[in-house]
Amino acid sequence: MKRLPVTVSILAAAVMATSSYAGGDAIFQKDCADCHYTVGPAREKTISDQLAKKGPELWYAGSKFQKEWLLSWLQDPKPIRPMKYNSLTEKNPADHPKLSAGDSAAVTDYLMGLTSADVKAGVIKPKKSAKGRLIFTKKMPCSGCHQYPARKGKIKGGLSGPSLVGASKRLNPDWVYAYLMNTKVFKPVRDMPDFAGVLNPKAMEKVAAYVAIFK
Ligand code: HEC
Ligand code: HEC
Repeated sequence: MKRLPVTVSILAAAVMATSSYAGGDAIFQKDCADCHYTVGPAREKTISDQLAKKGPELWYAGSKFQKEWLLSWLQDPKPIRPMKYNSLTEKNPADHPKLSAGDSAAVTDYLMGLTSADVKAGVIKPKKSAKGRLIFTKKMPCSGCHQYPARKGKIKGGLSGPSLVGASKRLNPDWVYAYLMNTKVFKPVRDMPDFAGVLNPKAMEKVAAYVAIFK
């Protein structure tokens, strides 16, 4: 009998703890999970599993994105890919669902908690590297598939991959490096060409550091 109040307060504490966390999770399950996976890794899914979802995998969202960017993008989602996701022929319909500021904060907290062990922190420092620029714009075909900010405020580059304009605000530089080193962990379908055997790790660091300064 004497134990009862203790049990009750433990239960109450547990309920409070889960409900503050569950907020973003519950919104996600209701409004977002139809189009996005939150369980990885991507390479363990079949191609039809991959194509079953209409949007990118988000199980590593906390490693990929910068929190401030995510918080504001979810409230005002501007197109990232010029083309529709996984298509080379259809334009991006620019019709992503929007969240209120409150729901965006809850969902951002939830997504920032989803991280990948393949992304090591503190490896890449954003840097205006001449070598990185040379790789991105000349030596490798990166700019043939990705838009990027060129000199004098001009946007250049191809349309088949996600735009890298604004990458300095959107992407975590360490994720860019991990993605270049090990593309298939993150996206095996309609993925990027695999540069792992083409660029050595130093060159990958330089190009990741260069992408990380894109305004
Ligand atoms: C009908 C399918 C659909 C629904 C529902 C949906 N999304 Fe998306 N989502 C997409 C597509 C398609 C993209 C790619 C958009 C682009 O590139 O501009 C995307 C992109 C994203 C991105 C950026 C991912 C990246 O790698 O570039 C985030 C974050 C995201 N969605 C979160 C959410 C959240 C949170 C919800 C629920 C409120 C949600 N989505 C609901 C289809 C959907
Ligand atoms: C043949 C076209 C092609 C080439 C060449 C290419 N990419 Fe990509 N890239 C893609 C595609 C396709 C994706 C993933 C598409 C998706 O998630 O919708 C991608 C994704 C990326 C991403 C992640 C962007 C995001 O928001 O999810 C980065 C960063 C990137 N590429 C950098 C590079 C760099 C650096 C190079 C050169 C070393 C390069 N890419 C070469 C097509 C290409």
